[in-house]
Amino acid sequence: MRSFVLLSLFAGVIGAVPLDQQPLGDAHTEEVLDATQLPLTGASAPGLHGRFLHITDFHPDRYYRYRSASDDGSCHHGKGDAGYFGAEGLDCDSPLALVDETFRWIEQNLKDDIDFVIWTGDSARHDNDERIPRTEKEILESNNLMAEKWVDLFGVRKNDVGMSGVPAVNVPVVPTFGNNDIAPHNIFMDGPNKWTRRYAELWRHFIPEDQRHSFVEGGWFTSEVIPGKLSVISLNTMYFFDSNSAVDGCADKSEPGYEHMEWLRVQLELLRSRNMKAILMGHVAPAHSSQKTSWDETCWQKYTLWVNRFRDVIVGTAYGHMNVDHFMLQDSHDIDFDFLTHKTTSERVGIQSKTDYLSSLRTDWADLPSPPPGVFDDYDSSTVDTQKKGKKNKKNKDEKEKKDKKKEKKRQKFFKKIEGPWAERYSVSLVSPSVVPNYFPTLRVIEYNITGLENAFERDFIDSAALADSNTEEDSPELLKKKKNKKKKKPDFKVPDAPSRTSPPGPAYSNQPLTWLSYTQYFANITHSNAQYASGDKDAHLDYEVEYNTRDDVYQMKDLTVRSFLQLAVRIAEQGEATNEVGIAKKVNKAWGAFLTRAFTGFFDVDDLNDQLES
Ligand SMILES: *[C@@H]1O[C@H](CO)[C@@H](O)[C@H](O)[C@H]1NC(C)=O
Ligand SMILES: *[C@@H]1O[C@H](CO)[C@@H](O)[C@H](O)[C@H]1NC(C)=O
Repeated sequence: MRSFVLLSLFAGVIGAVPLDQQPLGDAHTEEVLDATQLPLTGASAPGLHGRFLHITDFHPDRYYRYRSASDDGSCHHGKGDAGYFGAEGLDCDSPLALVDETFRWIEQNLKDDIDFVIWTGDSARHDNDERIPRTEKEILESNNLMAEKWVDLFGVRKNDVGMSGVPAVNVPVVPTFGNNDIAPHNIFMDGPNKWTRRYAELWRHFIPEDQRHSFVEGGWFTSEVIPGKLSVISLNTMYFFDSNSAVDGCADKSEPGYEHMEWLRVQLELLRSRNMKAILMGHVAPAHSSQKTSWDETCWQKYTLWVNRFRDVIVGTAYGHMNVDHFMLQDSHDIDFDFLTHKTTSERVGIQSKTDYLSSLRTDWADLPSPPPGVFDDYDSSTVDTQKKGKKNKKNKDEKEKKDKKKEKKRQKFFKKIEGPWAERYSVSLVSPSVVPNYFPTLRVIEYNITGLENAFERDFIDSAALADSNTEEDSPELLKKKKNKKKKKPDFKVPDAPSRTSPPGPAYSNQPLTWLSYTQYFANITHSNAQYASGDKDAHLDYEVEYNTRDDVYQMKDLTVRSFLQLAVRIAEQGEATNEVGIAKKVNKAWGAFLTRAFTGFFDVDDLNDQLES
């Protein structure tokens, strides 16, 4: 009887979902039973779902032509093999068919189960075809098309009319500027400018009314996605981007980058005072490895200082632009106050190939303090029990105690290096790969902890602008201490206060409400869909399916806290076991292999990638 009930329950779940709505085209039953692969369709439940979507780099291109030549990187002209849903593995931008199918899939599989959307820019094609140069009008039209798609998908609130009569979208969507959303690309002047004004209009359903002024000033804003609990802060990374020759970093008071960091500090202070948390998002990620830097060094320095000081407030960060799935660790020990105060020109290392960049991350991670086995095990309750129970004879007990003491000593030594059991020395930046099919198109669904928040679903945008006027120029105690030390020059900016000594670790460090628990990366096999279409199949469409989940047996992340990323980074950096394969000693490291494969959305064979690295 029991098993019958269970069976029919599962049958009900599967039966309730129309076949064409399943993320797995031909899902096997056992896969459907895996919670991470369950189609997320169904009636919308009241309250929070504990999931949000991060999607980036659509690059829609209305000039894309099916069966054009792809070899010039545009897929605009000639005759060739450019696929109907896109030219995977190449530099061409996205046909509208790919954009439409992506929205259809989201509508049928995600729409009712996500709390908000983080959308990190580049919603226009690249400027890579001399025969059809981009115009400002085209860029704005392309972005307007994308903005309308979100509004069509979620609808707008009928009884929530702001001061100027602009209703907010039903599910908060938080956009940001990509370097291709402006013309010429990469060049973004100090605000207010025509771009901040035009996008204030295009994104009127996404930018809360009280943030409009701030957005027009600098292209940055906050969106309180869970009222009274969580804000998403949309950074205008164009002011940090070292390819933007119209601006110059974050150290000089006259620079918009400086102003942006000041604004960010005030927002984070305000959120701290309201006991709220924040997600930071932007287009260009703060890449900073020995092989590649994307931000001006002064901006990276301030950012690293800010995220360290506001580690009690910041839940996580999400970036795009690079089209390569990976993460970065910022080390607060790299903060250099002298650098921030007296700007010197930084030596920039040339941008190497993407695999070289990933390899350099690995090399950098090899220097991370390595966690002794099981080091974090007892630290979820922040208590350690060194006195083990059990009634054994005295000799055994003494030996055990000695061993435990040694283990504890090792543990404390490690904790000293990472600044406490929560690894607060570090912070993490996540980069999601793109929809544009440089490899396979992808999107990411992040699962977060909603314990105790389930009913916090009423979304009223609170007037935080009035509260934000509390920008004071007072010195922090730390700064006062610095002032006394005459050898150190006073930084010419306000150094944010660290969390108070009594405040518990933030959601980025220990699992609590709003902590990111896992993410599922979805990919669409457009090779498959293109072949379907080319064969004349009228039902040819595109489905996203699970590429991986961070809890799987390779990444083994029990949550997405900084500790978990530190552990993963150390594992990726490890030299694998030497195995003798056909007489050749080959180093194998599963975590590194998966990291590399996933960086390119599973498009390449990992052995090919490794060969590329060696050659
Ligand atoms: C969410 O956080 C609470 C602590 O506040 C913890 O007890 C719970 O296990 C977490 N939930 C998940 C799913 O990890
Ligand atoms: C994608 O589809 C093609 C064609 O059906 C197939 O050969 C290939 O194995 C698929 N790749 C992945 C990663 O699923």
